[in-house]
Amino acid sequence: MHHHFCYNTPMTADELRKKYTEFFVSKGHVQIQGKSLLPDNDPTVLFTTAGMHPLVPYLLGEEHPAGKRLVDYQKCIRTGDIDCVGDASHLTFFEMLGNWSLGDYFKQEAIEMSFEFLTSPQWLNIPIEKLGVTVFEGEGDIPRDDESAAVWKRIGIPENRIAYLPRADNWWGPAGSTGPCGPDTEMFFYVSDAPCGPDCKPGCSCGKWLEIWNDVFMQYNKNAEGAYEPLTRTCVDTGMGIERTITILNGKQSVYDTEIFAPIRGAVEKAANYVYGTDNEKDKSVRIICDHLRASTFILGDPRAVSPSNVGAGYVLRRLIRRAVRHGRKLGIAEGILLSPIAGVLIEQMKGPYPELPENKARIIEELDREEHKFLETLQKGEHEFEKLLPNLLKDPRKIMPGRLAFKLYDTYGFPIELTEELAGENGMKVNRQEFDEAFKKHQELSRAGSEQVFKGGLQDHGEIATKYHTATHLLHQALRAVLGDHIAQKGSNITAERMRFDFSHPAPMTQEEVKKVEDIVNEQIQKDLLISLEIMSLDAAKACGAIALFGEKYESQVKVYTIGSSEGFFSKEVCGGPHVERTGILGKFTIQKEQSSSAGVRRIRAVLDC
Ligand code: ALA
Repeated sequence: MHHHFCYNTPMTADELRKKYTEFFVSKGHVQIQGKSLLPDNDPTVLFTTAGMHPLVPYLLGEEHPAGKRLVDYQKCIRTGDIDCVGDASHLTFFEMLGNWSLGDYFKQEAIEMSFEFLTSPQWLNIPIEKLGVTVFEGEGDIPRDDESAAVWKRIGIPENRIAYLPRADNWWGPAGSTGPCGPDTEMFFYVSDAPCGPDCKPGCSCGKWLEIWNDVFMQYNKNAEGAYEPLTRTCVDTGMGIERTITILNGKQSVYDTEIFAPIRGAVEKAANYVYGTDNEKDKSVRIICDHLRASTFILGDPRAVSPSNVGAGYVLRRLIRRAVRHGRKLGIAEGILLSPIAGVLIEQMKGPYPELPENKARIIEELDREEHKFLETLQKGEHEFEKLLPNLLKDPRKIMPGRLAFKLYDTYGFPIELTEELAGENGMKVNRQEFDEAFKKHQELSRAGSEQVFKGGLQDHGEIATKYHTATHLLHQALRAVLGDHIAQKGSNITAERMRFDFSHPAPMTQEEVKKVEDIVNEQIQKDLLISLEIMSLDAAKACGAIALFGEKYESQVKVYTIGSSEGFFSKEVCGGPHVERTGILGKFTIQKEQSSSAGVRRIRAVLDC
């Protein structure tokens, strides 16, 4: 009998969150609060990318106040596949359910609990025939995970539904390159009745196997040198995607067809006066708006919200908002404000599990409106510049717009290439897309080469202002050491186009005199218009010549060292990826706005440059 999807228990996301928590509480777990979407003092990622992220210290051995068995739901953002958003399955924002063992149960119990929750009629009631799993096939000194496979077989997963896969598939660690990690076993739902071919097995990328849950067996800490240190106690970290699980439980083809997206998708359809499912291109735009608006609303609704900007998480936010607006225009919503009314619908829908959304509603709406306006201005400016170029462009008998001009519009005015192509098309021309792509790629490589490791997990951008702040960070760091002592170590830094934040270890609040002294020292260095130079050397050589190296940074064998001042009498020397300005003179006036506590033994300075 091949009934499609008729045997699962239909369920809403609210019910799934509740059931999952209830199940794991019944197994001795304590429910904890999910944390911020924007990790603080974590140099390795821009966003929380998994439920385990806020738990890293506990997975590495620290004791958790709530005990050894934990359960929660966590809001997450992953930007790695941002350009795939628009198809039926990709999301940037999603929710992850998770249960953890901190040195308590390991493989056997973790797998047994996962299996029970998935298949028991009391819980998700998924038929065993619809499940498949993957386990780690082993590599080097680390053996094949026969232990996990044996548990799966014993509880009823047939041999042909267990696939042994390599590190790329069945090894998990956080998005930043260091931290707790280990082999995992992943659970898949078989969305079809027929395999794609003789080799089709769980984990196959044919689209018939949908991953819904991952049990990670944390056995190692990958350290800054890239070595695997065995953990003193082994842990379990699991993650179940809410959107995907709801999709399969309700027999839907796409996450965007579930009740999770129904309210906001409906709002987009209404604003565009369009019926979803009637035009492929338009459906794609609807999905992009839905996903990007969800991510943006959750970023802005977070207690640690950032504003749209040109660096770090703020840049991702800007990109999400602008791409959503652009697709709104594609759908013909050119009049009035598009995003904030839809955000209102989302806030209403999610206010139960995420009370921070209604609490921060005013900010969410205001920031969305402001960024939408700014972008519309950008579009007008870009259109105006295009008009200015047009008479010359039309002289070209081949009717080809040079790619470098299109790139200039993009680079200087933020004018999207798709719109340049559209305007060119309206005037009977084509853009030399290859030339544009080359210029774009070159620009990306330059900013990547110059950017710190810390932004590896996300998108990045180094505007001029951010670069100035970056140099100011080095001046501040050294000035703090001069005034407070050599115990000062950088604990984190965060830069937006408007200000810088710098966290450092220091046991007591700074006095007003100390703050003033630090500020004066930084401004003196700016007035001296010191040269900033870059050398590449080994980490040992860098330390030998007095360079400060940052905490938790993963260093290559050769590192970049930035010196401010002449090599005989330098003011600051730091190991750093850069980029930096050429001379301190262009930084303008440096002002410390605030000095406050950040966490135990860590102070935070907020400062601005008036440049
Ligand atoms: N942390 C694991 C994941 O994200 C569970 O897949």
